[in-house]
Amino acid sequence: MLASKSPRILAVANQKGGVGKTTTAVNLATSLAAVKQRVLLVDMDPQGNATTGLGIQRADIRKSVYDLLFDGGKASQVAMKTKVPRLSIVPSSVHLSGAEVELVTAKHREHRLKQALFEDMEYDYVIIDCPPSLNFLTLNSLVAAHSLIVPLQCEFYALEGLSQLTKTIGLVQKHFNPQLNIHGILLTMFDKRNRITRLVEEDVREYYGDKVYKTTIPRNVRLSEAPSYGLPGIIYDMNCVGSQAYIRLAREVIGREKTIYNQQKVA
Ligand SMILES: Nc1ncnc2c1ncn2[C@@H]1O[C@H](COP(=O)(O)OP(=O)(O)O)[C@@H](O)[C@H]1O
Ligand SMILES: [Mg+2]
Repeated sequence: MLASKSPRILAVANQKGGVGKTTTAVNLATSLAAVKQRVLLVDMDPQGNATTGLGIQRADIRKSVYDLLFDGGKASQVAMKTKVPRLSIVPSSVHLSGAEVELVTAKHREHRLKQALFEDMEYDYVIIDCPPSLNFLTLNSLVAAHSLIVPLQCEFYALEGLSQLTKTIGLVQKHFNPQLNIHGILLTMFDKRNRITRLVEEDVREYYGDKVYKTTIPRNVRLSEAPSYGLPGIIYDMNCVGSQAYIRLAREVIGREKTIYNQQKVA
């Protein structure tokens, strides 16, 4: 569908930790690969949870996001194959925590990732797993991305965090990347029996309307077990409710992509 174009770049972002960014990045990337898309996952988090979650051993990593940010070159030259057909990863590395400081004085410090991904025709989708903070690594991701997927856990302060992120998006649009938008807000670790969950869902849907994906991701222990086996949830147990939800999410993401793509063609 989008094969002849530059890849669509979607960053999974939320400055809050533990909201399901990495779980979403890994399982969405795998689900997209499962429906015949060529996918690259970029692990921008120094903690490297997406990297280990895909079974990549530290000893096997020759080049990482760090090399991409500092030595230039194309993402596909650094990418490693994963056990999932059509899914590659640019792994994280421990050096990445130092990169944050090194980038402060570097030239084109906000555009490094964008340059590395520019017209890399090897992929249909690039999914970026952002760190849980607003630093230069996140900024590089927001500058490179066309669109953001924002996982949100339905808890008391969720909306405040979201308005903070919206302000950041505004700043990035103004200074670096005018086209950046929110692809969708994804309610994660969703538990309909919980009153707070229901109240937060109501508020988020009322305020953000269609921006909130119809698909919600339930709290599901199989999804949290999978990384310890070095497997994406949807490979570890394709039939569990969590995996099924991520497969639905992938369909919804592709559906939105088609709408956006057709709108661009008409414009
Ligand atoms: N839908 C879910 N059900 C159960 N556990 C989940 C789910 N999504 C994420 N988790 C677990 O919650 C923790 C935080 O998720 P993670 O994806 O690492 O968040 P982040 O990348 O935002 O820090 C991890 O231990 C993960 O396995
Ligand atoms: Mg993470």
